[in-house]
Amino acid sequence: MAINIKTPEEIEGMRIACRLGSEVLDYITPFVKPGVTTKEIDRLAHEYMVNVQGTTPATLNYAPPGYPPFPASLCTSINDVICHGIPADKPLKSGDAMNVDITVITKDGFHGDNSRMFLVGEPSIMARRLSEITYECMWLGIAKVKPGAHLGDIGHAIQQHAEKNGYSVVREFCGHGVGRVFHEEPQVLHYGRPGTLEKLEPGMIFTIEPMINAGRREIKEMPDGWTIKTKDRSLSAQWEHTVLVTETGVEVLTLSAGSPPPPAIVLPLLNQAAAVPA
Ligand code: MF3
Ligand code: CO
Ligand code: CO
Repeated sequence: MAINIKTPEEIEGMRIACRLGSEVLDYITPFVKPGVTTKEIDRLAHEYMVNVQGTTPATLNYAPPGYPPFPASLCTSINDVICHGIPADKPLKSGDAMNVDITVITKDGFHGDNSRMFLVGEPSIMARRLSEITYECMWLGIAKVKPGAHLGDIGHAIQQHAEKNGYSVVREFCGHGVGRVFHEEPQVLHYGRPGTLEKLEPGMIFTIEPMINAGRREIKEMPDGWTIKTKDRSLSAQWEHTVLVTETGVEVLTLSAGSPPPPAIVLPLLNQAAAVPA
C-alpha cells in the first residue's frame, strides 16, 4: 500500500489546482444568503469554473463503483446532512448551516478539493459552535502533519478535540490522497491513536476533512444514493483542506484570499509556512 510521492512538477500543478478550488468557494460566498437555492449556487460555481477558470468540476457525473453519477458541480450539505448533499430547488433559510464541498480539475489534470461551512443569515449558537469546533478539529489535524509523523496522529488530534467538546466523529468517510486521481491512497481517518498507521513523507498530498456530529456518530444513507445524514437527525459540520507534507512540516494548498485564517488554538503549533499561500 505505497502512498504516491508527488514530483516537484506535480506539486506545482497541485498548488495551482488547490488555489483555484479555494477561489471557487471565495466566488460563491456573497451569493450564500436566505432565499437562494443550492441549485443556483451550483450553477454559479459551475459557470465560474468552466468559463472563468477553465477548470472542470470533478464531482459532475462522478460515479465510483456502486454509486449513481453525482448530478452537480459541488456538494451542499445542510444541517443534519453530513456530506454529499445534492443541490436542490429548496431556498436556503436563515439559520441553515451548510457545507459546500468543491473540487476542480485543471487542464493539466490536477484535483483541488476543499470545503467550508456557511452559516446562513442568523445562525444558532449551537450551529456556530459546532462549525467553530469542527474548524479547530481540521486545523489541529493539519498541525500534526510533518515528515515522520503518522496518520494516526492526525486522527487522534481530531477525535480528541471533538469528543472533549461533546461531539462525535463520523467514521464511514475520511480524507484521502489526491492528485491526478480524485480519491487515492491513503485513507485519512479522523479518529485514531498516535503513532499508528502510515508514516508521513515529504511529497505526500492528501485531504483532511473531518465530519463532526453534535449528537451520535451513526449515519443514514438517503435513497438518492448519495446524501448522508446523521441517524439521530443532529447537526453535522465539515471543513476540508488539501495539504502537502513538506521537508519541514505542512503546506496547506487550498488557500486563497477568502480563506478564513487558522484558529488561535493552532497558531502555536504551526510551522511558519503552513498557512501562507504559495
Ligand atoms: N469532495 C468530496 C470529498 O471531499 C467528494 C464528493 S464526491 C460527490 O472527497 F460525488 F459526492 F460529489
Ligand atoms: Co471535498
Ligand atoms: Co475530499
